[in-house]
Amino acid sequence: MTTSSVKELLNSEKFLQEVCVKGWVRTFRSNRFIALNDGSTIKNIQCVVDFENTDEALLKRITTGAAVAIKGTLVESQGKGQSVEVQVNNLEILGDSNPDEYPIQPKRHSLEFLRENAHLRVRTNTFSAVMRVRSALSFAVHQYFQQNGFYYVNTPIITGSDAEGAGEMFKVTNFEPNKAPLNEEGEVDYSQDFFGKQTNLTVSGQLEAETYAMGLGKVYTFGPTFRAENSNTTRHLAEFWMIEPEVAFYDLDANMDLSEDFIKYVLQYVLDNCKDDLEFLENRLLQEEKTKPQAERSEMSLIEKLKFVVDNNFKRVSYTEAIDILRNSKPNKKKKFQFPINEWGADLQSEHERYLVEKHFKCPVILFDYPAKIKAFYMRLNDDGKTVRAMDVLFPGIGEMVGGAQREERLDVLKEKMAALDIPEEELWWYLDTRKFGTAVHSGFGLGFERLVLFTTGMSNIRDVIPFPRTPQNAEF
Ligand code: 4AD
Ligand code: MG
Repeated sequence: MTTSSVKELLNSEKFLQEVCVKGWVRTFRSNRFIALNDGSTIKNIQCVVDFENTDEALLKRITTGAAVAIKGTLVESQGKGQSVEVQVNNLEILGDSNPDEYPIQPKRHSLEFLRENAHLRVRTNTFSAVMRVRSALSFAVHQYFQQNGFYYVNTPIITGSDAEGAGEMFKVTNFEPNKAPLNEEGEVDYSQDFFGKQTNLTVSGQLEAETYAMGLGKVYTFGPTFRAENSNTTRHLAEFWMIEPEVAFYDLDANMDLSEDFIKYVLQYVLDNCKDDLEFLENRLLQEEKTKPQAERSEMSLIEKLKFVVDNNFKRVSYTEAIDILRNSKPNKKKKFQFPINEWGADLQSEHERYLVEKHFKCPVILFDYPAKIKAFYMRLNDDGKTVRAMDVLFPGIGEMVGGAQREERLDVLKEKMAALDIPEEELWWYLDTRKFGTAVHSGFGLGFERLVLFTTGMSNIRDVIPFPRTPQNAEF
């Protein structure tokens, strides 16, 4: 007999058929009712055991967390709460679970506790829902790009370049600590290392993706990205997944259009395909919000928030306009910002980004034309000589979701900017080549996948939307 998933059985309208289902026991009550889950859906299927004709020793082994195989008859349910159930004819314990030791009890656990048990937390409703939505989102990402003529490019994870110039890189070396060979200046001699040069884990696939866009036209990456920034926040991971489209002949406006269209598409996909999980997550959020003071509660439910983003235009605002708004804002005048906004040129902190999206505009905002000084070297210089064609997409509750730009395609301007920032031309000779041979206007952006999952699921900590989070002082599992 073939094994059916719980989801298939719950959707089945063929009753009185013999079925086989395998999963993990969520609860077992009255020595009779098993709530069985196999991960295929947030819902459990009820399996009814004929306890009078079942061996006592076997009944004792039906415990929360145990893996079981059940053969039985699918029938319309007598009880409330479910439409179908399985009358068990045969039950086999595939793997026992000692109830005194199993950490995931059928009760509400704190998210902190579940983080410490990240290897088992996917057996809870919350985490299975989050991870199914995460999977659906990644499918939608590929579907969007593939349907729109983009090619998927795998850029290197080990690289010699620091795309963002922020120096937040994890080093990759084969030298033993303290045994690295030194050169005449007494510095570590990386020419003797595995790659013959200093290397690190990538902070962005952008520079390599740019070279591919200048041949394939429209490309995207979707892969792991690493940042050794010591940010212990609810929105930063040391290892996260980034989606980076890069398009030849796109200017900044086309880039903004792409980011907005893309985000709306993937959110709509989840609205269409993850109804049960979203409803569960919406209720979870509602419960969580009840514990907060009224003023901090969201005016919209989770699904309303997603629909709102899909149905409304993102507000496009220049950095200069944003600074004016912030300078004249209440929290700035009342000195409520930790970093007060006084002058044009100030870098925006997440408190400012959140003020703009949550209090002022109350919708996603695309900020563009930032001061050159606070942005990376590769962004195209505007004619004013002081701003660059940068764009950040800011989201309520999240802050920065996307960072991108129109790239500097003029060889001389790019070289000047690199010189000003002490970036050696020898290191990026290949990047400069794209400006020498058939250069063209092009643009792209990076979207932090976990921040997207965070927004979509209504979770509040980025550590809860990736299976095994890597953060400062934590690389368990
Ligand atoms: O703004 P960032 O640093 O931009 C880049 O890396 C560009 N090279 C992208 C490009 O133009 N192709 O990072 C892009 C996005 C951010 O907007 C944020 O969503 C996410 O990546 N991000 C992080 N997500 C989780 N943890 C971190 N430590 C993150 N740092 C950035
Ligand atoms: Mg950024």
